[in-house]
Amino acid sequence: MNIVVLTGAGISAESGVPTFRGADGLWEGHRVEEVATPEAFVRDPHLVHHFYNLRRAKLLDGTIHPNPAHQALARLAASKEHRLFLVTQNIDDLHERGGSPDVLHMHGELLKSRCTECGAVADCREDLGRASVCKACGHLDCLRPHVVWFGEMPFGLDEISVAISQADLFVAIGTSGNVYPAAGFVFLARQAGIKTLEINLEVSEGTRIFHESRRGRAGDLVPQWVDELQ
Ligand code: OAD
Repeated sequence: MNIVVLTGAGISAESGVPTFRGADGLWEGHRVEEVATPEAFVRDPHLVHHFYNLRRAKLLDGTIHPNPAHQALARLAASKEHRLFLVTQNIDDLHERGGSPDVLHMHGELLKSRCTECGAVADCREDLGRASVCKACGHLDCLRPHVVWFGEMPFGLDEISVAISQADLFVAIGTSGNVYPAAGFVFLARQAGIKTLEINLEVSEGTRIFHESRRGRAGDLVPQWVDELQ
């Protein structure tokens, strides 16, 4: 079977990475627009760098590990009977650490920087700031997190829509369905006439669009679902 899986912040919640839309509607004390837009970066680069530096340091502080949901998707990727196309909205590297060989990070990656002068994308495990220098072109004050901000185009959209058009099953895991275009993938899947499954802790914005919706923790339900497929 050809399977497209879309993951969101909920799959990393049990690993200790906070989701975006918690009870107070804030993202670690900030409104999303304050820290995750190109305008915010122009207005206050220090605040934006600081916000992503904290998140990067947390991801690397040794307390955050992949959970059974990430590991189950790696098992699915290794299965001979199925072909998995894994796309994530998450900027953490927990799918990779959980063993997934091929992950499309449509909203970018926290552990990469991008040069606004020459476009070079590089591994980044340290803090970024205005004093950072691009190793590729030597410019100062030109590195930004390699993440997609609101108002910017996500990565890989053509590839994702081709994958959905060729799939037999579309599964969304741990995503609230608030942010397009990812929230629209279930509509593409329905148009393609394929089965759709949601695995989420709570009712999401998209729940009613899916053929089937399973309610619970990803760490429990994703391994169960992968076992059913084997
Ligand atoms: P959200 O924070 O909007 O939603 C997370 C979803 O995961 C919610 O529906 C929760 O109910 C669910 N959830 C929480 N814990 C869970 C668990 N243990 N098991 C299963 N589900 C659980 O996160 P996303 O939908 O990923 O974009 O957010 C989408 C985008 O909004 C992000 O990629 C980011 C953000 O702004 C950008 O920054 C561009």
